[in-house]
Amino acid sequence: MQGGGGAVVVDSSSKDGHAPARAPVPGRSFPVKLVARPQLLFAVLATGFLAAALLLVVLGGGGAVPYYRLPALAVHDVLLAAPCAEEKEEDQVVERWWARPPARSAWHNMSDEELLWAASFEPRRRRGRGRPSAPGKVAFMFLTRGPLPLAPLWERFFNGSGGRGLFSVYVHTTPGYRLDFPPSSPFHRRQVPSKATRWGETSVVDAERRLLANALLDLSNERFVLLSESCIPLHPLPAVHAYLTRSRHSFVGAFDDPGPHGRGRYRTALAPDVSVSQWRKGAQWFEMDRRLALFVVADGRYYPRFRDVCRPPCYVDEHYLPTVLTIEAPMSIANRSVTWVDWSRGGSHPAMFGADDVSKDFLERLAGKKDKEKERCMYNGQPAVVCSLFARKFAPGALQPLLQLSPRVLGY
Ligand SMILES: *[C@@H]1O[C@H](CO)[C@@H](O)[C@H](O)[C@H]1NC(C)=O
Ligand SMILES: *[C@@H]1O[C@H](CO)[C@@H](O)[C@H](O)[C@H]1NC(C)=O
Ligand SMILES: *[C@@H]1O[C@H](CO)[C@@H](O)[C@H](O)[C@H]1NC(C)=O
Repeated sequence: MQGGGGAVVVDSSSKDGHAPARAPVPGRSFPVKLVARPQLLFAVLATGFLAAALLLVVLGGGGAVPYYRLPALAVHDVLLAAPCAEEKEEDQVVERWWARPPARSAWHNMSDEELLWAASFEPRRRRGRGRPSAPGKVAFMFLTRGPLPLAPLWERFFNGSGGRGLFSVYVHTTPGYRLDFPPSSPFHRRQVPSKATRWGETSVVDAERRLLANALLDLSNERFVLLSESCIPLHPLPAVHAYLTRSRHSFVGAFDDPGPHGRGRYRTALAPDVSVSQWRKGAQWFEMDRRLALFVVADGRYYPRFRDVCRPPCYVDEHYLPTVLTIEAPMSIANRSVTWVDWSRGGSHPAMFGADDVSKDFLERLAGKKDKEKERCMYNGQPAVVCSLFARKFAPGALQPLLQLSPRVLGY
């Protein structure tokens, strides 16, 4: 359960705290727009090619080269794939675009509008068509302020058996911050174009949608999990992958809090789309399947309303997803998160764990390896002991004890 008001709001006096540009939300008439805007399709198609060139430019330039100032590229390959849409069935055109191998770098030069549009524009594909029947990947989406102090732990986690077929990584940072990981790291070139975010404000949800849209562009991503730089994995990668891909529900926390920090934050201006009885609260650290992720990036109905109306002390990152998914897909969400956090110390911030807090007992408890007889949550309609796949918040200082204990205690 979450504690007091503004629970996830962190005081941000950062210089990047200005209000971010708002991304217009696309409607669903994408095929038409595709036809009407060949240059946009071009931008989308060019992503993979640009990514490599961009890194050269950025690395070579050494400075803050804006990503949109790119040299002209050889584009004939890209142009070949452009649609002769009038005579082609929409699906075919799009299918071909989506069938392209995922870009090796997560970077691109699409604007938010183009990105959300491209990501919402998924082929109406049937299973077994346009995608290999292999189990889909889990997209690990890191919403960070900059560095990833626990990266060595995550690198070990990702290095587990099963390998790269099970996951992909996306990192949203403070703009201007450049992640620098060697090619051997799963974080190498996984940074996505980012904008300033302030916790508790709509810019956080903008960042979440940006991450989702980036991850949706890889058709082999099947589940999408939002993480912070202070999160750690509690189980080996194959177990996490199986837990998520076999779940019938998405793990979005949602509960009805009748108090001032719950229903008290409801805004009557949201009626009639959202009534007070539909108002939900939940931590922002979601996990969702492809269908819900598509809904979220394409949501042109609720999101603009929340963005305009739900302002502090209505915290959009705590209410938008729980409320809207409760309305649109109540049977698809588990109403609980898979990311453990400790609110027991009270106050408006969850507990932060440092080196002294990390012990074998503590980690075993988080991983559900203690009190095995206790049923603590539901999984696919059955009582389960493993309820959390991730935990937060861990300070950078916790890294060494975590690295020492993880092979024995967490299995990676
Ligand atoms: C992305 O790059 C391509 C090729 O340089 C360019 O044509 C296109 O306009 C760019 N898009 C944006 C939004 O900057
Ligand atoms: C990944 O696994 C390989 C082989 O098991 C090992 O040699 C390498 O050091 C590991 N890398 C990390 C970052 O743990
Ligand atoms: C989540 O809550 C909704 C009502 O808010 C309910 O309809 C749904 O069945 C719940 N999901 C699960 C998995 O229990």
